[in-house]
Formats: sequence, C-alpha cells, structure tokens
Amino acid sequence: MCEKQESADFRGQPRLPHFATPRRYDIFLKPDLSSCQFSGSAAITVDVVSPTRFLVLNSADLSIDATSVSLGQISPRNTELVEDDEILVLEFDSQLPLGQSLLRIHFTGTLNDQMRGFYRSKYEYKGDVKNMAVTQFESVDARRCFPCWDEPAFKAQFKITLEVPSQLVALSNMPISEEKLNADGELKTISYEESPLMSTYLVAIVIGHFDYIQGITPDGIQVRVYTQVGKTEQGRFALDVALNSLNIYKDYFAVPYPLPKLDMVAIPDFAAGAMENYGLVTYRESALLYDEKLSSASNKQNVAITVAHELAHQWFGNLVTMEWWTHLWLNEGFASWVSYLAVDAIFPEWKIWTQFLDETASGMKLDALSESHPIEVEIKHASEVDAIFDSISYDKGASVIRMLQSYLGANCFQKALASYIKKYAYGNATTDDLWAVLEEESGEPVRDLMSSWTKQQGYPVIFLNMDSNKLHLYQEQFLSDGSSGSGTWIAPLTLCCSSYDISKKFILKSKSDELDVDDLILHKEGNQETFWMKLNTDQTGFYRVKYDDELALGLEYAIKADKLSLTDKIGIIDDASALSVACKVTLSSLLSLLDAYSTQSDYTVLSRVISVSLKIANLVDDATPDLSDNIRLFLIKLLKSPAEKLGWDVKEGESHLDTMLRAELLMALVRLGNKSTVDEGIRRFAIFLNDRNSSVLLPDTRKAAYVAVMQHCTVSDKSGYESLLKIYRETDQSQEKVRVIGSLASCPDKGIVLDALNFLLTDEVRNQDAVYGLNVAIQGRETLWEWLKENWEYISKTWPSSSLISSFVSSVVSPFSSYEKSEEIEKFFASRMKPTFERALKQSLERVKINAHWIKGVRNDKSLAEVVSHLVHKA
Ligand code: BES
Ligand code: ZN
Repeated sequence: MCEKQESADFRGQPRLPHFATPRRYDIFLKPDLSSCQFSGSAAITVDVVSPTRFLVLNSADLSIDATSVSLGQISPRNTELVEDDEILVLEFDSQLPLGQSLLRIHFTGTLNDQMRGFYRSKYEYKGDVKNMAVTQFESVDARRCFPCWDEPAFKAQFKITLEVPSQLVALSNMPISEEKLNADGELKTISYEESPLMSTYLVAIVIGHFDYIQGITPDGIQVRVYTQVGKTEQGRFALDVALNSLNIYKDYFAVPYPLPKLDMVAIPDFAAGAMENYGLVTYRESALLYDEKLSSASNKQNVAITVAHELAHQWFGNLVTMEWWTHLWLNEGFASWVSYLAVDAIFPEWKIWTQFLDETASGMKLDALSESHPIEVEIKHASEVDAIFDSISYDKGASVIRMLQSYLGANCFQKALASYIKKYAYGNATTDDLWAVLEEESGEPVRDLMSSWTKQQGYPVIFLNMDSNKLHLYQEQFLSDGSSGSGTWIAPLTLCCSSYDISKKFILKSKSDELDVDDLILHKEGNQETFWMKLNTDQTGFYRVKYDDELALGLEYAIKADKLSLTDKIGIIDDASALSVACKVTLSSLLSLLDAYSTQSDYTVLSRVISVSLKIANLVDDATPDLSDNIRLFLIKLLKSPAEKLGWDVKEGESHLDTMLRAELLMALVRLGNKSTVDEGIRRFAIFLNDRNSSVLLPDTRKAAYVAVMQHCTVSDKSGYESLLKIYRETDQSQEKVRVIGSLASCPDKGIVLDALNFLLTDEVRNQDAVYGLNVAIQGRETLWEWLKENWEYISKTWPSSSLISSFVSSVVSPFSSYEKSEEIEKFFASRMKPTFERALKQSLERVKINAHWIKGVRNDKSLAEVVSHLVHKA
C-alpha cells in the first residue's frame, strides 16, 4: 500500500496520517520585535510506526528552508507546502526507517497582527509604544509558529529555547532551566525545562516588559500574575482566586497540579477572553485585572469565573485532552461547569449556581435554532474548528453535565471524574470514554442517556397536562420558529408539588408517558387555591416545560405567594419567554406572568426579568406600534420599584448581588427610556466629568449613565459624545474603555451612530474591543447594517478570526425582524461567505425570521390591548 502512496493522497483530508508520530520537539525561536519577523528551528523526534516514504505535518504562513530539512541523515526528495490544507509534505526517495529519528527544519515567519499563531501586541512602556510577542495556538495555529503535528491527539514533550533582548521578560509553559547572556550583551538565550506530554495547541510563549506578583500554594506551586509594569496590584484578586482554585481542583480531581509553576499574564491584544496554555495562561486585560476603584462587581465576577475556568483546564483539557475537536465540549463544557464549582466554594454569597442558569439559557437559546449543531460535531476541515467554540460546546455542554451530576449524585459523579482523570492523564479521551467511566462507577446506563443529549442537536419541550389523577407528559423538540423537530430524548425528570418535600423523579424515555400522581393529588384536594406543580426542580434539566392552563395558574400563584426557589422562578419566566418567541404562549400571557414577578427583589431572578423585558421592548415597535408605549410603561413600572429601593449610591456593606442588580436595573430603565432615570444619569455624568474621583458615579452604574448621555445626544449638541471620547482617551484601564465603547453607538441620531462606528475602525480602538461598539439602540440597526456593507472588505480582512468576525455578523444581523431584510442580507453575503462566519450568519438569519414570525403572532394576540391597559392602569 505504501508504495502506492502519492503526495496528492494527503490533500483535502480532515486529519493527518498516522504513520509517523512526534515524541519530542526541540524548538528554537528568535523573534525580532522591531521588524516583527522571527526565525526558528525545530528538531523533532519522530517515530515512524508504519512503512512510508512521506512525512506529513502542519505548517502555515511560514517560509520553510527546504535545504535545511532532514530526517536523521536523509534529505527529502521533495518538500511541498500545501496552502489550502496547511500541511507540509516531505517526500523521501525510499521507505523511511521504522523507529525514532530526528527531523530538522529551519523556518522564518512574521509576528502578525491577527492575534493568532505567533503575534505582536502593542503596549506603552515609559512613554513609548512597544511590541510584545505572544502566542495563541488554540485551535489550529501552532502551525503558524513552527511546523508540527498540530492535532490534540499527537501529544509530545516540548523543550523550548528562546533568544530575546536581554532586558525583557520571556515566559513559556515550563520554568527556566538555563539563562545565558550572549556575547554582545544585547540578547540572552533562555532554555526552559522539558514539558510533560502535551498537545501543540497548549504551547505558549510571551515576551515583553512585565512586572509580577506571586504566591505559593500549600503544595509549593509557584503562581505568578504578570501585568504591565506598575500595575501588579490589579492582579492581586486573580492571584487569590488562582491559589484557591488550584487547591479546590487538586482535591476535586484527586490529582495534584501537574506542573511546577503557573503563570498568568495580561495581554493587551487578545482575541478570546483567556487561554489555558499549560502553565502559562494568557488573558485579555479585562478578564484578569481587577481594581477596587475602577472595576465593577460584574468585572470582578468575570475575572473569578475566567481564572477558575482556565485553571480547571489544567486538568480537564491539558492533562486529559479531547481526542479530536469533535469532543471540544469535553474541554469547554467541563471547564465551564467546574469553574462554577470553584467559584461557589470561594464566594458562596454570589449564588453562582443560580447564576449558572444564564449559561443554560444561552445554550437553550442557540439550540432552539435549526442551524444549531449537536454537542459532538463532525469536523471535516481545520477551518471549521474555531466556529464551534460556541454556546453549544460551552453552555449546553456545561448544562448537560449539571443535569447528569444531579441525576447521579454529586459524590458518585466526583469519584467517577477523578478516576477518568487518573485513567487518561497525559493522554486523550473521547466522549464515550468518559461515559464508560461514569457508567462503571455509577452502574447507571450513562451512555444511552447522555448520547441522546450529545449526539442529537436540540432539546425537548415537555407538555404537561393533568386530569383527575394522571399526569400526561409529551415531548417534542423545541424550536424558536414555532415548528417542532423530530428528536426524542431520554430525559431525567424531577417534579415537586405544593412543597419541595413532595417530589418525584423519573425518566421519560419515549414521546409520551403517563404518570400516576394519586399521592400528589391527595395533596391537592381541599387545597385547590394553593396547589402548584413544578417540573424540572431547580432547573437542573436541559428542557423546557409547557404547562396546561390550570397548572400555569398554579405556578403564577406560587410565584406571587413566594413559594418557589430562585432557580424555579427563573426557569418559569425563561420557559414562558422562549415559548412566547415561538408563539406557543401569547405576549399577553407573558406580560401577565411578568407582572407576578413585581415583588421580587433578588438579583438572579430580576436579572432574568430584565432580559425578558428588554427583548420584548426591542420588538414591540415593529410588532404593535400602537401599544408599544404602554408596554414600555408597564415594564418600567415593573422595574422601577426595585430600582428605587437600591438607588444610585452604594449602601454601606451591601451585597455583591445588590451591586450587580443596581447596575442592571438602571441600565434597563435607561434603555426603556424612563425619563427620571435618564435625567439622573445625565446629572451624575456631569459631576463625574468634572471630578473623576467623585463617588456619584462608581464603575457599576457608569455604563447606565453613559448610555443615558448618548440617548440624549444630537447632531446639534454632540457634547455628550465628545465627553465620552475624552474619558475613553484619558483612561488606560481596559474595562473602562469597554464601558465607553459599548455606550457610544446607543444613540437615536444616525449621524452620531455613524461617527461612533467609524471610530471603531481607527487605531484608537484595539481590534479585540471593536465588537463591543456594535451595541446600537434598535433605531440604529439600519445604520449599522449600511455601515457593515460599506466597510465589509476592510472588516473581514481586519478581523479574520472566527469569534470576532462572527460577533460582527451576528450583532449586525440579529436585531432585524422582517423576512425581506433576511433575504436582503442573505443576498449580500451570497458571494462573500467564509467558513469562519458561515455558522454565525445562518444562525443570525434564522433569528431574523424568528423575530418576524413572533411579530406576526403578537399581531394576532387579540387580548393584548386589554391586558396591557389593565397592567398599566392597575394600582
Ligand atoms: N480555550 C478557550 C480559549 C479559546 C476560545 C481558544 C476560542 C480558541 C478559540 C478558553 O478556555 C476559554 O474558554 N475562554 C473563554 C473564557 C471562559 C471564562 C468561558 C473566553 O475566551 O471567552
Ligand atoms: Zn475554556
């Protein structure tokens, strides 16, 4: 067979051939930070395991010095770079010796400005703008730094050596083993210890001016946070979270942290939020740095979650790695889920498991589209990988894990995870491997149960009807466009009745089922008014519920009488809102249900009430212009009283969650156009503008004030816009810059929206931050679309990474709500489609059609006028 191998056989294949595997990489790199070029060499110990004349590995954007290539003593007859497939094919005259030989390759490349591969980031140091050199390899960009077998299952050991300017800090995954000053004193050569077996996407290098602070875990692991010079105190909070998380994880996974050190670095230009490189975790500044005076409570929480997430990967992802990108969710779903476990242990007062329902909600939102995908998704080409770092892999992944954990029990689940980690340490695993371990530990049919959730896209809505003594259950795939898909799930259900003490657990295995509920009904007799039944206790299941009318009324009673847990209250409004989008519940019923929440005061519940309210507010102008003012009035009324209780100023000793709630309530009232809130925001802004240390506008409430200012900006008086730009230019703190950028386009005036959008394209805004600026008010969506079309060529070139260009596309497209618009947008992109954003575009177009369908439903809602008038006028 090998005699017949041709170099053409290797083209167009999703994965590299397996006849040779790398065991050890000796990588040397010498970056030139002023010319942004680098040169390097790789000496790779390759094990040829089956007969072949070829070596096939990955390489992209590198110039390979063909004369330098050799395997032991032999040189290839032909060295071919196949650009489309990002592979390097080395063809030899005769069969390669089986066993280990050394492959040598010299190469050069460019430190690019695209935040992937080996790239440069800009920062200010002692008044000058400098370049730092940084790597970002996940998912498939290690090949842009050195030629390698760039797939997660080709684990090898890495020995890195760097030659860098002597005054700079240079970091890699492992501690330094040797550092030598070169003869001229200008450069130094740093060698790092050899790594344990690891995947290429986790290799990392950072070179620049940095300061650090450090701590040591009780097991002696040195943990450092590197920041811009002079900013180390902003790393203190993340350092504490890291030290705590490492402790929690080593107990939870029952395996020590695998490396001798952990560094965490803030990078000024960074495409994702953070990256879990083994022993050298890189972050966006806003996801790592926390400053008591400059950061908001939600910034703080984001830092904690991000640190906990990346450190979870050091076990789940780095020590045990997915076998292929199809199993990406094993990395991301698990790290997301585990991060909540750690943050809950460190900050119990944050009720982070209740907040976890935000993740479940975003997973459900995406998975209610026909253009969603199964958790386990086939990958046919490297270019498709980046696009699956989405809410399905993260949020649905984390949610189905929570569902399974709650089904198996926390102890059993933890034990099984620990044995999984032990069994696959330094290796790779598939989804089935995990199920096998869980099945063995628990004795439950985990594989069958979970396959229905990971191999099948979507999730069910469960219709619940009760007659005299029976509960009728019926499942159907939930889709936001109102149609129903064909899936059936094995769904672990929980149910409770008029009290959390009266509960049932069962598995729904087929389309429909009946349940004898005589014991529960007993409870109902004589208590007709106070009877309620809630399916999906504590919302641990990944499904929605549609109750019959009587059961729905019972729940409305239970909400008003405050009988339900926070999670259940969140679940009920989230399900109702999704069902309303799908036209399965009328807008008038949804509004009546919202009214039942008017006495709620907890952040977690109100935060969901707010997002449902804003979603409604955004579409009512299109749907029912006659009623839209009154609907907004009702929503304002709903949010006004909790907002008034909290006011604008922080109360001494108030909780983290109240601080978060204030920010969201004020923001929502501003967006709903509540005059008194807008006026107060503008008043406080004016004071703050004159005195940045004034306490009238702390970081938490600042964004609400910024948006209030922008709502009142007009072409004849642009002073608000200009003041915000001044604040933007004067701060060097990333979270504050993001707050300003996120407000600038929230203006009803088209001219100013255009100015704000054009500002995003200037070099005053880092490419990583531009997407925050696409946050226009609904009146600005047409201007935004025209602007995108006008600048598409530049935008698609400047933001090639999948996550950023996808954000552009979905922020611009999703707010529309007519079939005509969806056609127009589709036409525009027909000749411009790329795999990096194709998924995001299709999903966004589907959202537009769902909005259009919802609007039709709202127009047919005959009781809406009456209900709205009742809700607005009742005392
Ligand atoms: N592994 C990812 C980073 C990543 C994302 C690499 C997309 C390549 C493509 C990292 O662990 C991650 O998930 N980061 C999140 C933050 C986290 C708190 C959910 C991010 O970047 O948003
Ligand atoms: Zn992750």
